Amino acid sequence: MEDAITKKRMLSGIKPSGDLTLGSYLGAIRNWAQRAEEYDCFYFMADLHAITVRQNPADLRRRTLEQLAQYIACGLDPQKNTLFIQSHVHQHAELGWVLECYSMFGELSRMTQFKDKSAKNAENINGGLFTYPSLMAADILLYQPDLVPVGEDQKQHVELCHTIARRFNGVYGDVFKIPEPFVSKVGARIMSLTNPTAKMSKSENEDTGRVLLMDAPETIMRQFKRAVTDSETSVRFDKENKPGVSNLMTIYAACTGKTYQQIEEEFSGKGYGEFKPAVGEAVVETLRPIREEAARLMKDKAYLESVYRDGAQKAAYVAEKTLRKVYKKVGFVAK
Ligand code: TRP
Repeated sequence: MEDAITKKRMLSGIKPSGDLTLGSYLGAIRNWAQRAEEYDCFYFMADLHAITVRQNPADLRRRTLEQLAQYIACGLDPQKNTLFIQSHVHQHAELGWVLECYSMFGELSRMTQFKDKSAKNAENINGGLFTYPSLMAADILLYQPDLVPVGEDQKQHVELCHTIARRFNGVYGDVFKIPEPFVSKVGARIMSLTNPTAKMSKSENEDTGRVLLMDAPETIMRQFKRAVTDSETSVRFDKENKPGVSNLMTIYAACTGKTYQQIEEEFSGKGYGEFKPAVGEAVVETLRPIREEAARLMKDKAYLESVYRDGAQKAAYVAEKTLRKVYKKVGFVAK
């Protein structure tokens, strides 16, 4: 408890709308695991957000639990981090509603994710998809965090969260702590293996260029052998002209700890035919312990249950304090 008072707080979430990828691990989760000493960390499975797109209920339930198992297997120790499922902490939905009333139609209309998703789901442009950023603002502001690590694609949502928080504080005084305006991006940005100018995506259709945390070694090797490169033969880092090779180098560097220069030396005079399987093998070895541990945890439902129950209780304790303050400020009668 003393820790929680002195440490800075950090929070992030991932939607269980797709399976976690190598990109989620190298770009985010691996770095989160290293923050636990310095920060009081909260991570959640954003299942409320997942249903803005139609989900198969059994798949959503399975993926939410798998995501928890994978978080733990990636090194997020439940003793040191608060891990919870968003729908278990009802304060998210409640503050989400309040913040919808402080989010402007124009602002929500300008969100690029809303525009993209509406284009992709023309038959299901629902209200939740539109107000998604208000709920995300609630997720963040409930915990008064100092840091909210997110990918580039979520930056606009975090900025809108600031706008909403400042608007609310402007009317009612200092209710919300404004988290650091810029979202530090320490992790490697991993791109698709078949389309190296686009991010390796967990959701959306069958992206053939992605590697999932739970993929079998043979699948991973196959993915790397068919990774898109270029018409040269040299292993050289050049993001502009050689995005495929550069992405493979980023992955190899992240898995082995080698620098780009060391990698260039290692493969000088050798073609992509040697480089691509080497990257595949490095990834297989990096993911092996994670896959095995996550599979083991998935069989221990009682343990997973104890983790998410515990997490929800800790999260709700913090969230309730903020929610109560908000309800009072806006003029709701106390229970
Ligand atoms: N929108 C995020 C994503 O799609 C997930 C998310 C929901 C989130 N609420 C959050 C991330 C709050 C950080 C903080 O990946």
